[in-house]
Amino acid sequence: MRGPRLLTTLLLAALAGAKYIVPGGRWYDTDGNLISAHAGGIVADKESDKFWWFGEYKTESHPEGGGVSVYSSSDLATWEYHGLALAPIEGHEIISPRHIIQRPKVVYSKASNEYHMWWHADNSSYGLLLQGFARSPNISGPYEFVSATAPLGNWSQDFGLFTDRNTGKSYALYSNGDRAEGRDVYISSYNDGVSALDSVVYRFNKFDLEAPTIVQTDRSYYALMSHKTGYRPNNVVAFRADSLEGPWSQPFMVAPPNTRTFNSQSGFTLRIDGTKKTTYLYIGDQWDSNSIWESRYIWLPMTIDDNKRTLQLEWHDVYDLDVKTGEWAPVRGTTYYAASNHARTSGTAFKQEANFASYGTIATGIYGNDSTVTFEGVEGAGEAQPQWVSFYYQNTDDMGFGDQPGGTPDRIGGAWQLRRIASVVVNGDVENVQTLYQRDTHKGVILSTPLLLRLRKGHNNTIAVGGLYNGFDVKGADLDRIVVYPPEREGR
Ligand SMILES: *[C@@H]1O[C@H](CO)[C@@H](O)[C@H](O)[C@H]1NC(C)=O
Ligand SMILES: *[C@@H]1O[C@H](CO)[C@@H](O)[C@H](O)[C@H]1NC(C)=O
Ligand SMILES: *[C@@H]1O[C@H](CO)[C@@H](O)[C@H](O)[C@H]1NC(C)=O
Ligand SMILES: *[C@@H]1O[C@H](CO)[C@@H](O)[C@H](O)[C@H]1NC(C)=O
Ligand SMILES: *[C@@H]1O[C@H](CO)[C@@H](O)[C@H](O)[C@H]1NC(C)=O
Repeated sequence: MRGPRLLTTLLLAALAGAKYIVPGGRWYDTDGNLISAHAGGIVADKESDKFWWFGEYKTESHPEGGGVSVYSSSDLATWEYHGLALAPIEGHEIISPRHIIQRPKVVYSKASNEYHMWWHADNSSYGLLLQGFARSPNISGPYEFVSATAPLGNWSQDFGLFTDRNTGKSYALYSNGDRAEGRDVYISSYNDGVSALDSVVYRFNKFDLEAPTIVQTDRSYYALMSHKTGYRPNNVVAFRADSLEGPWSQPFMVAPPNTRTFNSQSGFTLRIDGTKKTTYLYIGDQWDSNSIWESRYIWLPMTIDDNKRTLQLEWHDVYDLDVKTGEWAPVRGTTYYAASNHARTSGTAFKQEANFASYGTIATGIYGNDSTVTFEGVEGAGEAQPQWVSFYYQNTDDMGFGDQPGGTPDRIGGAWQLRRIASVVVNGDVENVQTLYQRDTHKGVILSTPLLLRLRKGHNNTIAVGGLYNGFDVKGADLDRIVVYPPEREGR
């Protein structure tokens, strides 16, 4: 039995493909374009046996007003673009390119045998605070606008949608705005057709949170929400309950403090019921207010312990997820340290004592493109097979509010600066400078961000990191180490 069964497993795995999930990387669709589906939601559709990802569509020429894009995938890693599911309509009362169409979510309605899309519908000054509704017989759209309404007469800002796996009932999750009378988050139940709201089920009173999403285990509900810090990330919190009606617990942080949820904001969670394992994914956004179309996605497995009543995100630079079995595993890489003699500094770059860094040393002063840290003797798999390389860095700029002097403990009157940019040059090939975006971490906090690079086969590669202009400064962040991952395989 062992032989044939193993063979079947291998064949199935090969068919499913094997592509890594790399949080914070530049993700491209099957046409080679950056995936643009921000603040989105994912539907696991039984009929097509595919995942469908809906989100806000943003490009460099149209950072706002792009409508809702839709992509499909069989493995959550390879995404095919299907165009706009909800296209803005010039002159429309609520879905024109000048209106806000944010945090779209799609759900199948059994009653209408259609797919229903809901979102935060607003005018450009966020003065309307409505929930938009559109529908389509086809999951990929096009969706037809139906209405934009005030939920049960109230305001609605950041929007989420949750369907209970036990009852099949759907719920709208929304914060009711920033004014003093608002600052709550609501769970309200839909009617059976998911075409209108029935009643308020719970109100998270005056926590002043946003971007809600609920993940359901066999025994608990966890509601994740973000603080209100605009496009800057913060420490996302979760509440736990046995029932949607509550009582809900006190909120607790879901990631190590001061990582600002690994530089992300909540918005969605996905439960994968595999044949071997149930896996819970955090589907977060890494916003970049300086180039919003380049905002990235932070998808991470969550470790949930219903006995201890805890939920934690687990950081992995690169992991391999099998959506059929539900199993996932971190991919192992090779680490090269800035502290090592094989990391050479030039120009103003130098190594400095840092008790929080690897071997007590971090490389800093990477200011300007002639100041570099060069990792030597890096092993590669050959230029035909690109490899993810994670750069562990510290960006000490922190997050000032440029327009509110004194409004932050981190900086008085500072510029609102979300990331430094480093140049990455492989084997001295200055014709192909890669840009590495290094978002603010926190002083003493080291995080990583990845780039896909082509290395020569063998142990003789160099990777040089310098500083580039980010609109404010010509500075790269401080470097702790790099980790080089093996290329993706075809099949597992
Ligand atoms: C948005 O709607 C509010 C409420 O009607 C209104 O006061 C505000 O002027 C509108 N903003 C824009 C940009 O139209
Ligand atoms: C539904 O969408 C799919 C994928 O975009 C497309 O191939 C198909 O023709 C559509 N079907 C209908 C009835 O519009
Ligand atoms: C609207 O929100 C306010 C503030 O949370 C609340 O006092 C009021 O009861 C809400 N009304 C409805 C109909 O939900
Ligand atoms: C390095 O930066 C200087 C000025 O900051 C610029 O003139 C020069 O072109 C840059 N060189 C490279 C290789 O980027
Ligand atoms: C390693 O690469 C350098 C240039 O990057 C080259 O000069 C040297 O000969 C190479 N050594 C080996 C052993 O391939």
